[in-house]
Amino acid sequence: MGNLFMLWAALGICYAAFSASAWSVNNFLITGPKAYLTYTTSVALGAQSGIEECKFQFAWERWNCPENALQLSTHNRLRSATRETSFIHAISSAGVMYIITKNCSMGDFENCGCDGSNNGKTGGHGWIWGGCSDNVEFGERISKLFVDSLEKGKDARALMNLHNNRAGRLAVRATMKRTCKCHGISGSCSIQTCWLQLADFREMGDYLKAKYDQALKIEMDKRQLRAGNSAEGHWVPAEAFLPSAEAELIFLEESPDYCTCNSSLGIYGTEGRECLQNSHNTSRWERRSCGRLCTECGLQVEERKTEVISSCNCKFQWCCTVKCDQCRHVVSKYYCARSPGSAQSLGKGSA
Ligand SMILES: *[C@@H]1O[C@H](CO)[C@@H](O)[C@H](O)[C@H]1NC(C)=O
Ligand SMILES: *[C@@H]1O[C@H](CO)[C@@H](O)[C@H](O)[C@H]1NC(C)=O
Ligand SMILES: *[C@@H]1O[C@H](CO)[C@@H](O)[C@H](O)[C@H]1NC(C)=O
Repeated sequence: MGNLFMLWAALGICYAAFSASAWSVNNFLITGPKAYLTYTTSVALGAQSGIEECKFQFAWERWNCPENALQLSTHNRLRSATRETSFIHAISSAGVMYIITKNCSMGDFENCGCDGSNNGKTGGHGWIWGGCSDNVEFGERISKLFVDSLEKGKDARALMNLHNNRAGRLAVRATMKRTCKCHGISGSCSIQTCWLQLADFREMGDYLKAKYDQALKIEMDKRQLRAGNSAEGHWVPAEAFLPSAEAELIFLEESPDYCTCNSSLGIYGTEGRECLQNSHNTSRWERRSCGRLCTECGLQVEERKTEVISSCNCKFQWCCTVKCDQCRHVVSKYYCARSPGSAQSLGKGSA
């Protein structure tokens, strides 16, 4: 976080009118039930990998999963209930479940292990259950215990967060895969044993990003929303949050304009952000990033050239070394910059 923050400071953009209140694993360490201290390190690691995935998934979006948005508790100064909030909750909760489940399969905890309950049973045509199926139930329980316990309120925001925490955990289950191993005479594969395995974390991130794109807005009375925790007692029970949509992400408020620095909302704006242009190896979504981050936000795309030195013309020499030249080449990077002469002020804090 320090690096990014210094970068912003150096650029004089949206300068620290608000402190980047760092998301902290202490969230968990403080609020987690004492009996479960055994799991705190893993829980923190899991939440951390959720956050890293969030940063990856949103790297080329206007909102790019900044630290100050990562407070999971509803007692957050910036208690937003947007689509983005829903993603943070889902991915963190999923991350915790994921890592605890992995830990179980690795035998890291005494009281959980692989799920072998079906082993020996026929699973389908030509295969039987066998091996080490990941035991998601245990991971699910620990994730629920830690992440859900951060929601103290009973208002709409808390219910939204709980719903999205759960949707995150369902994503871990939904992306699991059957993996099989062949048996039989000389690899004939006449019989296979199969087990259920967690998907790559990235795959689960992709899955939740798609859920984010299709997230559902729950319409509710503005006054209720503003009342925050005091809505307790007036608010409808959890069932109101579409039981049929249990795997979907839900949100209550439209997202603010992430283009422009707004310190009271904790938004940095896109000025100074890098975007991708003319690079070959990028998806269409990435190639559109300069439009999305810069021009559509009223900024222009600024090219900055930097010289890069790398190894090249490498030759294998007998025997046994590799000799390379040092090649210099200029690479272009692209950034969002305010148009010269633009009087538009992006945030009060800018120097
Ligand atoms: C759980 O797994 C993570 C990474 O997979 C590892 O760093 C951590 O040490 C494990 N926890 C325990 C208690 O072994
Ligand atoms: C920041 O957002 C708030 C709430 O939407 C708005 O009232 C305020 O004018 C914005 N401030 C700036 C500097 O854009
Ligand atoms: C380009 O994409 C391929 C396959 O997607 C990948 O293996 C390779 O590392 C990428 N190259 C760069 C420079 O990103």
